[in-house]
Amino acid sequence: MICIIPARPRACYHASGVPGMSRQNAIRLSIVAAVILTLLAALWAALARIGWRLPQLPVPIVGLHGALMISGVFGALVSLERAVALQKRAAYVVPLLTILGTLLLVSGLPFEMGKTLLVLGALGLAIVFVYIYRKRSTIDILAMGLGALAWLIGNGLWLFGQPIYHAAPWWIIFLILTIAGERLELSRVLMLKPLSRTLFKSVVAVLLIGLTLSLIDFDLGLRVSGVGLALLGAWLLRYDVARHTIRKTGLTRYIAACLLPGYVWLVIGGSLWIAFGGTSTAGFIYDALLHSILLGFVFSMIFGHALIIIPSVLPIDLTYRPVFYFHLVLLQISLLVRVAADLIASQPVRQWAGLFNVLAVLIFMGLMLRSAHRRPVMATQKPGFFKKPGF
Ligand code: HEM
Repeated sequence: MICIIPARPRACYHASGVPGMSRQNAIRLSIVAAVILTLLAALWAALARIGWRLPQLPVPIVGLHGALMISGVFGALVSLERAVALQKRAAYVVPLLTILGTLLLVSGLPFEMGKTLLVLGALGLAIVFVYIYRKRSTIDILAMGLGALAWLIGNGLWLFGQPIYHAAPWWIIFLILTIAGERLELSRVLMLKPLSRTLFKSVVAVLLIGLTLSLIDFDLGLRVSGVGLALLGAWLLRYDVARHTIRKTGLTRYIAACLLPGYVWLVIGGSLWIAFGGTSTAGFIYDALLHSILLGFVFSMIFGHALIIIPSVLPIDLTYRPVFYFHLVLLQISLLVRVAADLIASQPVRQWAGLFNVLAVLIFMGLMLRSAHRRPVMATQKPGFFKKPGF
């Protein structure tokens, strides 16, 4: 998900009819716009799920909160990033399938139609990773490819009638392996020793064994996966460059300040999985099991990498500002309160904490928008299309 070396878009001509925007940029922009709308819809559904009374929408999205977040937001974003990095037109089919599947889900048509397209989208991403792995057979690509496979299995389980709580662990591991693989890519900077690589592979094996076991014994499988999650968090805390870059300044330090609490959340989430396994499939504990990882780990990573991810898929740059610590701290504190509320089963506290989780994400989106400016004209472009910065 996090492209360490952003794939800069090629020169822009007028293929789309929009001055200064290539057809590829127009497709990317449309996908990103769809992802943003899906994220807003998923947040709306999140508030309704956590107990806030909101006006009824014409489309039934409340029960779709999880699927919108995982496939509509992250599935689409991960596959878009891969398509951009590959620079192959065919690869754009994957995020487009995912967006279309998400649209069908909320369209009121039979759910099976949307679910089928999401399965096809995940299958497409797995195929993309097979293609990349044949060119570059490294452990990080393998981890990301296994992540895509987990997304495919999760979507498949959902399509074939399994309850969402059975698909959710697969969805979670999809995001975790994608992010961990990308971090591993970066850790090469530290010239990891064979021992640390072996440890990483063992931890991923535990995760996957647990996940597979969950198909036979849901409770036991989740507990074993929990061991893998906690160990992965510990591995990242020990071997990721963030441990060193936290001592730097500016953006580098900010990114590390996002990653390190994210890894701690992975350890916390893994410990909760070990403690509760598959005993809770709705309500407080279920909420803690999911969101300690999905908000604590995944969103901390997103906060940290947005300044790299967004310019890798759109022709804009983002300027780092110290105010970014605001949404980071807000997310960490409100999530701590939410998980504590889950553990003591306090609905009012959980409800307010959930609202602040959503606010943290909205503030993050607003600040990203304010910090964005169009990338300077490239040598191959005709000058004068972009008169002033501001996208
Ligand atoms: C931003 C604040 C968020 C809030 C307030 C929120 C709220 C909720 C609630 C209340 C539930 C149901 C738990 C229960 O049974 O009581 C839920 C389920 C779920 N959430 Fe979230 N969530 C948020 C963010 C996220 C994010 C960022 C993701 C994914 C990256 C996510 C993915 C899921 C999934 C997969 C489920 C399970 C769906 C199901 O069982 O139907 N959530 N969420």
